[in-house]
Amino acid sequence: MPKIAVCHADNLAVLRGLPDECVDLIYIDPPFNTGRVQQRTKISTVRDDSGDRVGFKGYVYRTIKGETLGYDDRFDDFLGFLHPRMVEACRILKPQGSFFFHLDYREIHYCKVMLDGIFGRESFINEIIWAYDYGARSRCRWSAKHDNILWYAKDPEHYTFNFDEMDRIPYMAPGLVGADKAALGKTPTDVWWHTIVSPNGREKTGYATQKPRGVIDRIVKVHSKPGDVLCDFFAGSGTLGESAAELGRSALLVDQNVEAVHVMKERFKDRDASWYRGAVHAAEALEEVRLAARADAESAASDAGKTEGQGGAGRADVVVRRRGVAKADAEKPAPSVPKPKGKAAPAGRSAAKTAAPAKGKAGAARTGRRAVRRMPPLEELDKD
Ligand SMILES: C[S@@+](CC[C@H](N)C(=O)[O-])C[C@H]1O[C@@H](n2cnc3c(N)ncnc32)[C@H](O)[C@@H]1O
Repeated sequence: MPKIAVCHADNLAVLRGLPDECVDLIYIDPPFNTGRVQQRTKISTVRDDSGDRVGFKGYVYRTIKGETLGYDDRFDDFLGFLHPRMVEACRILKPQGSFFFHLDYREIHYCKVMLDGIFGRESFINEIIWAYDYGARSRCRWSAKHDNILWYAKDPEHYTFNFDEMDRIPYMAPGLVGADKAALGKTPTDVWWHTIVSPNGREKTGYATQKPRGVIDRIVKVHSKPGDVLCDFFAGSGTLGESAAELGRSALLVDQNVEAVHVMKERFKDRDASWYRGAVHAAEALEEVRLAARADAESAASDAGKTEGQGGAGRADVVVRRRGVAKADAEKPAPSVPKPKGKAAPAGRSAAKTAAPAKGKAGAARTGRRAVRRMPPLEELDKD
């Protein structure tokens, strides 16, 4: 059964208490350095003829303000704050693991340069644009309605990518493809259209910067497998943890804000969750998560064995390095991948990256892992 362990602590101290290469997938959504205090006040309404809101059928309601949940999102030295945490993230990520970094247009370019220096430019695989269409519009510039999510694979030749786990989206011009294709839908690109968490929806926790399950579920399904250990060390309302548990993965979550912990307590009240205060418990929390994940992985493997015994496909689609694509695309020659010229390695480049496993065939021979050729970008498979 998936386990969630939540640490209420500064994430740098927690990360430093974790061993090397212990998690399969990291998703983080750090503060955006908006220069504001991020806060949201929960409101509810009751019928009251002297109230301030008019609703359906003209009924009048009074607004009741609840608690305000928030945190300070102002940093004098944002990159200085992030850098040591990103070095630790790279260190704790398993060799085939992926790292997702979620921010917005204000700081993403600086962070990309910093992360290239830590993970290596060749480890950068995608910038995902999460586009939404909600809220006020500007009259003096193009309204910013997207966030940016950077994806780094620790080993860019060898990572988990469950192509078949991708949800499908409707074709823009279904009339131009056959009925079967139109019914199946197409695979998403690096631009993900998804609504924000609805202010009135069931998903809403009241936490100011809560991210939608749809976006996080897609990352979890495609970039990890059941029985994996996931980590979000800027956990907020715990969206990654909920997604992980729902999809059979276990998760270690960290947040230093007591309000975030309260929100998670409510959100995970029906799940197998443990709570730790202080970074001294980091290793213990991880161990709990790892034990649960190992049990889940073993039971998934035994289920897959049974399916295979019955002539089923088992878990063969849950493999490293785009095997689903390779099957569909086996006849096409692999394109050459431009190597970054003169990789910049800023002074802060991490030792963790230097210690990362060797790449390519020679590296595979040394590490005993399979070298897998690079495949064409997904968009080429998915032309209307
Ligand atoms: C943008 S929010 C994350 C929202 C989350 N993705 C969700 O869906 O609810 C960033 C979180 O990072 C937390 N945070 C900021 N600095 C931190 C630190 N040094 N250690 C741990 N958590 C931190 C904040 O308290 C906040 O909850």
